[in-house]
Amino acid sequence: MSTLLKIDASAQLQDRSLTRKLTALFERTFVNVAPHTQVVSRDVGQTPPPFIDYRFIHAAFTLPQEREAWMGDHLAISDELIDEVVAADIIVMGVPMYNYGMPASLKAWFDQVARIGKTFSFDLNRGDFPIEPILSGKHLVVLSARGEFGFVPGGVRADKNALDPALAACAHYLGVSSKAIETVTIEYQEFKDDRHRASVAEAQTRTAEIAHRLASSFAFKPSSERGVSHHSCQ
Ligand SMILES: Cc1cc2nc3c(=O)[nH]c(=O)nc-3n(C[C@H](O)[C@H](O)[C@H](O)COP(=O)(O)O)c2cc1C
Repeated sequence: MSTLLKIDASAQLQDRSLTRKLTALFERTFVNVAPHTQVVSRDVGQTPPPFIDYRFIHAAFTLPQEREAWMGDHLAISDELIDEVVAADIIVMGVPMYNYGMPASLKAWFDQVARIGKTFSFDLNRGDFPIEPILSGKHLVVLSARGEFGFVPGGVRADKNALDPALAACAHYLGVSSKAIETVTIEYQEFKDDRHRASVAEAQTRTAEIAHRLASSFAFKPSSERGVSHHSCQ
């Protein structure tokens, strides 16, 4: 059985969010092909994780066996979010571009999930690259939307793209190598013209294709063992 972690980061509700519609399409297609999938939904857009603070840093950098009770309490949300990542085979993220970067709610999620001893190790014996990820072998599908256009390398706004490079830089904390990231992007949302409509149609086709392909690689269990289970976290 495979586990799909679905993360939505749009501050908009389902009806008004392009990325939420794409993540829903991804989930539907995936579960259709691999009905035994366990889907875990984490809605950071509706319920943002707390920003990390000095207590989080102090607690996270104290060895587990030396932690005081308040430290364990303060790391509880981080533990829960990390457990969801650890259990996931595939992570699909609905990510709007806000002010040229990722929504603050998703950045807060990454800050809770990137944790020493849990998702990365740190060792100065490794020289100039002391950080190594602990998790591995996961797939990340980024389903994004932008009001403007031209954020790809060589595009008219490539220099303003603070979103895709940030996701690529942080993906290793999730156990995702750079080759295991696939990104689908809706553009021109603010123009509401034919270019936007074409972009939506293409994004829907690609989203369904990726979901179908990834689900096919997990859909190997006999039908008698299949049964979809849902678990929602907010
Ligand atoms: C607060 C806010 C900031 C935004 N900043 C940008 C931006 O910097 N660049 C851009 O191309 N679009 C920007 N947009 C447009 C969104 O990326 C676009 O509306 C997208 O469809 C949002 O995703 P959603 O439909 O899933 O909510 C912004 C929208 C909002 C609400």
